[in-house]
Amino acid sequence: MRAKRQPRTIGILTSGGDCPGLNAAIRGVAKAVIGTYGMDVIGILDGFTGLVENRVIHLHEHELVGLLTLGGTILGTSRNKPHKMPLADGTFHDMTGAAVENYHRLKLDGLVCIGGGGTAKNALRLQKAGLNVITLPKTIDNDVVETDVSFGYDTAMHIATEAVDRLHTTASSHQRIILVDIMGHNAGWLALGASLAGGADVCLIPEIPFRVEKVIESLAQRRTRGRRFSIVSVAEGARPYAAAEIEAGSESVPPITSALIAIQLQEALGLETRVTTLGHVQRGGMPTSTDRLLATQLGCTAARLISEGVFGVMVAVKGNAFVPVPLERVAGFRKTIPLDDPMIEAARLIGLCLSD
Ligand code: F6P
Repeated sequence: MRAKRQPRTIGILTSGGDCPGLNAAIRGVAKAVIGTYGMDVIGILDGFTGLVENRVIHLHEHELVGLLTLGGTILGTSRNKPHKMPLADGTFHDMTGAAVENYHRLKLDGLVCIGGGGTAKNALRLQKAGLNVITLPKTIDNDVVETDVSFGYDTAMHIATEAVDRLHTTASSHQRIILVDIMGHNAGWLALGASLAGGADVCLIPEIPFRVEKVIESLAQRRTRGRRFSIVSVAEGARPYAAAEIEAGSESVPPITSALIAIQLQEALGLETRVTTLGHVQRGGMPTSTDRLLATQLGCTAARLISEGVFGVMVAVKGNAFVPVPLERVAGFRKTIPLDDPMIEAARLIGLCLSD
């Protein structure tokens, strides 16, 4: 979709869970639209909430200094949706009208929404309500469809891999089994990637329902081969094949899954077990050079597309190219690991137990 007139002012917001590289993306978009295309940039605070409540800041070139390496987002973020805004009394209201009104009050010609799959859904709704919207894919989960990769994933991979590395020495020293909880509610990209890169012995991911007896069997075999410690990585969204295998806790939150598996492994194998939850550490701090570069290139491509009046799209990575993809092809979809993915093949070939 092409805008009717040359854009002069754009808004930027970050939405959903934060991740390393958001500030680099804000900087990439803003530097290019201000410096090359001569537009004004308004930063919208706390995701879509700021648009609904008209809370904004003006972004000038001097405000972009130092952003490349900075974790988090200078704009703040939230998971709130314009069509379902939480009110103080605990109810939700459709505030799309207020978002549209404020967009026009701010005289925006375009809105850049930096976020994951949920953000793409909200962005599409606003596009349909008449706004010019363009999105950039970010997520440590790597589960945004139609793009080879999203920024945030590489940094999280480094953090999770380093954790798996470090757990090796302590697990080995104490002859323990250590379970490591890795983020990824619906997709196992981060857990499987860090398990392969860090050399875990078992990896449980949402795409492959697990069987505890398979994990026990694999760790017992490892022991007969003389290995007196093991690392088991558990993606946040990993679920047992049959709920009965995890007693009463099968429906409960992911950390309980790891804790229950730990108890079962300790009882079956007679080895001490410990659980480490990496949690939000995986989302914090400085982005890697790969994520800074990716966020910058995505941001610059968005700036060019805006100058050409192209909206209603997400900027995606396809091989070496940065291309617009219609939001309809992104919103409501999730990229999980296909069972024939090369990472799954590699796991099987090197004997990383996936417990199926
Ligand atoms: O979407 C990214 C993510 O980090 C998921 O891996 C995780 O399930 C979720 O966000 C955690 O969300 P919150 O920060 O709201 O606890």
